[in-house]
Amino acid sequence: MALKFNSAFIQDEEHRPKPHISEAGGIPVIDLSPLVALTRDDDDRIERSKEALAGLVAEVGAACKAWGFFQIVNHGVPPELLDRLLAVAREFFALPLEEKRRVRRGEENPLGYYDTEHTKNVRDWKEVFDFASKEPTKIPATADPGEEKVDLFWNQWPDYPPEFRKACEEYAKGMEKFAHQLLELISLSLGLPAKRLSGFFKENMSFLRLNHYPECPEPRLALGVGRHKDGGALTILAQDDVGGLDVKRKSDGEWVRVKPIPNSYIINVGDIVQVWSNDAYESVEHRVSVNSARDRFSVPFFFNPPHHTNVRPLKELTGEGRPARYEEYNWGQFFKARKNSNFKKLVVENVQISHFKKTLLAN
Ligand code: OGA
Ligand code: NI
Repeated sequence: MALKFNSAFIQDEEHRPKPHISEAGGIPVIDLSPLVALTRDDDDRIERSKEALAGLVAEVGAACKAWGFFQIVNHGVPPELLDRLLAVAREFFALPLEEKRRVRRGEENPLGYYDTEHTKNVRDWKEVFDFASKEPTKIPATADPGEEKVDLFWNQWPDYPPEFRKACEEYAKGMEKFAHQLLELISLSLGLPAKRLSGFFKENMSFLRLNHYPECPEPRLALGVGRHKDGGALTILAQDDVGGLDVKRKSDGEWVRVKPIPNSYIINVGDIVQVWSNDAYESVEHRVSVNSARDRFSVPFFFNPPHHTNVRPLKELTGEGRPARYEEYNWGQFFKARKNSNFKKLVVENVQISHFKKTLLAN
């Protein structure tokens, strides 16, 4: 086992894993075949086929509104990409700790491996490997407004397994393409042109994370990831057949376990989409439960715009009777502030988009 359980992993009373409802009334499952079946292969195919895709777009919109989460089947992403990635991830995490720590992530470089047993103040029962989809990835040097200095980071690749880097890079390419398609569907579902949001992602600072959640001797006291919302635009998650992702159901606040469906992806909208949509779509809380029987692998792709992006409600979605609910904020600084508080965890509250919420007068 990769991690040794100690009291640092014990969640305090308020954050202990709360019971979940297994698969009941689960997140919507959406079949992407109408899009995959489009015969046109040009860049404008989604916009130009929007009548044919109207049913699909309506499903995406309803899922974003009601849950903030959905599962996609018949997605068109070649399954070998994930198979190869999970195979190298399994080999990598099985290496001795000293070996994995050669590509260790730290305060100086946020990309690479870390295990939480050796990371102060992090309670998550997991080990991870982070890499950026595009290099170098650019992050503001500090979270101070007006900071002009930007740090550049490169991925750190392990020597073993030898196919590790290629599997990661090919998977990342597949995810970028998939993310752009999902973004167009989401844009249409908001009543906007398909490409309305695409320009924000010409460059991007998207990340991928290989998550390994070892079997946990005390699954009632610990979590793989504590409850949180994703700060970026969209997250595309692949998971194996073990299960453990719990989503907070908007209708009643119950925790619902997402049922693993073979060859599917789980999509959730993040804080940036919440702000762009002026609260039409909300970024929903989720967490990862662990178990004592089987270890689990998952791979989120965090689709993020570049650091210099200023985020505010889209003008088409605000106006007469629909005031903007958020002040503009800078995404790179938001991200940096989150990272800082992750390292100093629990002392300062994580920055949240609610901090940019305007006080709207009821009228
Ligand atoms: C995350 C996350 C879910 C999972 O890393 O942000 O929510 O199932 N992961 O691993
Ligand atoms: Ni998450």
